[in-house]
Amino acid sequence: MISKDLQEQLIKCAKEAQEKSYTPYSKFPVGAAVITEDGDIFTGCNIENISYGLTNCGERTAIFKMMSEKGPKTKIKAIAVTTKADIACTPCGACRQVIQEFSTPETVVIYKGEKDYVVVPMSQHLPGAFTEFVAIDQDGSSKRIQPGV
Ligand code: THU
Repeated sequence: MISKDLQEQLIKCAKEAQEKSYTPYSKFPVGAAVITEDGDIFTGCNIENISYGLTNCGERTAIFKMMSEKGPKTKIKAIAVTTKADIACTPCGACRQVIQEFSTPETVVIYKGEKDYVVVPMSQHLPGAFTEFVAIDQDGSSKRIQPGV
């Protein structure tokens, strides 16, 4: 579980990051703050591009900052997402898959619900997630591949 104090701290960090967003096209600034299992916080904002598909969401900015600073064993304890409009913004599909890669069964997502912020387990955000495949070698031998392994 994540304490109320920590939730509020993450929301504050995400709100600060949101101020840095580059959103000339959507005018929809998004902020995100991740806390790692060992207590480090990383923030991010959405960064748009005139070639729209190259836009990076706030969540992925924060997660890629986390990974590049902390290294491949890092796991997310919680991620908070905020918007200037103060409306619900749940992570998009691409971000869910990226959060999933660095999640544990305890990872939670925090975002604005109907009234207050809500804390929702990541497992509810991507049921049936793509989390493994089988690599088949030319000699026919096969190996199960799972995140990070
Ligand atoms: N956006 C995010 O940053 N995170 C999400 O989870 C959903 C969408 C951004 C992308 C784009 O800059 C703007 O919101 C409108 O889609």
